[in-house]
Amino acid sequence: MSGAPFLLASLDATHDRTAFRSDSEPLNRYLREQVTQDIRRRVAACFVALADGQRIAGYYTLASASLLLANLPASTGKRLPRYPTVPAVRMGRLAVDQAFKGQGLGGALLADALYRTARSEIAAFALMVDAKDEAAAAFYQHHGFMALPDSSLTLFLPQATVQRSENSPFQAV
Ligand SMILES: CC(C)(COP(=O)(O)OP(=O)(O)OC[C@H]1O[C@@H](n2cnc3c(N)ncnc32)[C@H](O)[C@@H]1OP(=O)(O)O)[C@@H](O)C(=O)NCCC(=O)NCCS
Repeated sequence: MSGAPFLLASLDATHDRTAFRSDSEPLNRYLREQVTQDIRRRVAACFVALADGQRIAGYYTLASASLLLANLPASTGKRLPRYPTVPAVRMGRLAVDQAFKGQGLGGALLADALYRTARSEIAAFALMVDAKDEAAAAFYQHHGFMALPDSSLTLFLPQATVQRSENSPFQAV
C-alpha cells in the first residue's frame, strides 16, 4: 500500500457515506442506503478504510456463512470431515473509491478480512466471496482464491493455505 496510511474502523454514524464513489454504483448505493440496517440486524459487519482520518476510501462487509461440502472441489473436500457443510466467513462486499484505486487498498482490505477471520475465536474453514462479475472474480483469483467447480463467481480461500499474519496491514482507529 503506497501513500498516506489509511486507518481502519468499524463503520459508525460519524462516517460520511454519501461521498463514496467506487466503479460499482450498486456497491455505492449499498453503503449509502442499506449497510446500517444490515449492521443493526446483525446480518453484516462493515469495516472502512479512512483517508485523512475521516474520508471513506474503501469498505468491506463480513458475515457468517457456510459452504456445502458437496460443492467444494474434490481435492479440498476429501481433507475435511464428512459434515454436510463447513463453516466460512463471507466477504459480501468490497469496494474502493475511484480516487484510491490501484494503490493496493483493495488487496490490503482483503488481507485485513483474512486477518480478522484468522484471529476470530469462532472457527471458519475459509473466507468466501460472491464476486459480482468475472472481473471481480479475477481480482480474487489474483489473491489466491479458488472458484467452486459449479459456480465460477463463488470463490473461497481456505484459512490453512493463508500465511498467518500477526497484524492487520492497517492502523486501527
Ligand atoms: C476490485 C477493487 C476492490 C480493487 O481495488 P484496488 O484498490 O484498485 O486494487 P489493488 O490496488 O489493491 O490491487 C491489488 C492487486 O490486484 C490486482 N487487480 C486489481 N483488479 C484486478 C482484477 N479485476 N483482476 C485481476 N487482478 C486485479 C492488481 O493488479 C494488484 O496486483 P499486484 O498486487 O500484483 O500489483 C476495486 O477496483 C473496486 O472497488 N472495484 C469496484 C467494485 C468491485 O468490483 N468489487 C469487487 C467485489 S464484488
